[in-house]
Amino acid sequence: MSNVKCDVISIFPEYFLPLKLSIIGKARESGILDIQIHDLRDQAIGVHKSVDDTPYGGGAGMVMSPEPWARAIEQVCDQRNIPLRTLVILTPAGEKFTQAMAREFSQTEHLIFASGRYEGIDQRVTDYYRAQPGFTVREVSIGDYVLNGGEVATLVMLESIARLVPGVLGNPDSLLEESHSLPQGNLEYPTYTKPASWRGLDVPEVLLSGNHSLIHSWRMQEAALRSERISRQTGE
Ligand code: 6GU
Repeated sequence: MSNVKCDVISIFPEYFLPLKLSIIGKARESGILDIQIHDLRDQAIGVHKSVDDTPYGGGAGMVMSPEPWARAIEQVCDQRNIPLRTLVILTPAGEKFTQAMAREFSQTEHLIFASGRYEGIDQRVTDYYRAQPGFTVREVSIGDYVLNGGEVATLVMLESIARLVPGVLGNPDSLLEESHSLPQGNLEYPTYTKPASWRGLDVPEVLLSGNHSLIHSWRMQEAALRSERISRQTGE
């Protein structure tokens, strides 16, 4: 199976310029990663090129209209010609994004990210595509806080998904170390580099010992301590 193909739909395509940088930028240039950004406004309706309107039932803010989303979603589906896709709708009310979800999405053929503003996209976009064959719809949040829109949440998801795609990381050992050799939880052990003594702080002796099995046990123990500390802080 080929690598995941990603389409992002947003009224702020410039938000995604960082995807030209660093590891993800290089992977896109070399063709390992296929991420395309689409401007929702290209699908806007009428002379005013509007993509939102006032909410039925009243209330503050604007709600994004369904038709521009449908046109944008259908255009990317036509362009890709992949029979099954997952439509990710970014919303603070969605299921929480996790490393397990990143892994699942990294093994998907086609992901479409609908990055709307926080007052939201008309609910019928979710409901409509849930009922369409070939579509899996996931409403996803990246955490319990409110952002102005789904753009930054999409960037977070893309970065964690992309690094799981084979060939994206120069050194796949970084993935092996994260997934297998750490205790439950994804927290790593503390790391050090030269100099061995810095502003009165010394690198732990064991790391200078050259005893690899001792170093491994020490790291596992430290990673477990970090996980414990974090669980206490978050109460989870
Ligand atoms: Cl996906 N969108 C918004 N607007 N806020 C969020 C979020 C998404 N995830 C956490 N907060």
